[in-house]
Amino acid sequence: MSKRPVLFLDSGVGGLPYYEWVMHRVYDRSLVYVADTEHFPYGDKPVETILSLAEELAVRIIESFDPALIVLSCNTLSVIALSMLRSRFPVPMVGVVPAVKPAAARSEKKRIGVIATKRTIEDVYLKQLIAEFASDCSVHPFADNGLVGFVETRILEADEEEKNNACAASVSYFKEAGIDALVLGCTHFIFLKNTFAGLLGGGVKVLDSVEGVGRQVLRLLIGDDHTGAEPGGRSAGLFVTSAEKGPFYRSLSSRFGIEYGGLLTSGVRL
Ligand code: DGL
Repeated sequence: MSKRPVLFLDSGVGGLPYYEWVMHRVYDRSLVYVADTEHFPYGDKPVETILSLAEELAVRIIESFDPALIVLSCNTLSVIALSMLRSRFPVPMVGVVPAVKPAAARSEKKRIGVIATKRTIEDVYLKQLIAEFASDCSVHPFADNGLVGFVETRILEADEEEKNNACAASVSYFKEAGIDALVLGCTHFIFLKNTFAGLLGGGVKVLDSVEGVGRQVLRLLIGDDHTGAEPGGRSAGLFVTSAEKGPFYRSLSSRFGIEYGGLLTSGVRL
């Protein structure tokens, strides 16, 4: 079997839950996590900027790591750039999609919330997803670019009160809307899943796409007959950033059990 790595990409730390899910289920190849801190955040950038930075970054990471598979573990990047990247590069790619379909299926009140970056909320892709899978629901979107910055800088140190405060504006909007299912449509917000669940209460399901995307990665790598996790196992990995480096990224990669590789430079290799 090929030892070329699986590479996860996000503007920052948002893709780590996807990496972690796969890390505990794939043992025969390395995983690489790239946080594109040089261009963080993506969610307030124009479409053209995201397209061009995505293309440039793909060239760099393919040259450095020759990945067997790239996981765009970022909704903004997937929504804006996945089809362009697929047409431009021969490497298989998996994107993440806001979990609108499962949310619509599981909402009894047929009232669902979606929280994501401004770019994702405004994009036609999300509107199409809602039209296709949630046309029987009242859908309440909320853009929160500030919350992305909160996760990227504070998630290791913030206590529950600080996390509650960071989520307060969106939670009050969703309570007012009377939703019973919330889609975390930005991967950074998965770090606040328990906070949202606690503030919204037991009647509201909080959904992300980690398991769905993880299973798709396994299908592509191993095939449909893969039976899932082998307890106690894990794959080797490397965490790199495209610009900023420092104690936050070092601590976070160590919390996820990933070797910290510093900057994504032309010399960095697994
Ligand atoms: N984590 C990313 C997402 O899922 C984007 C965060 C950002 O850079 O704005 O959309």
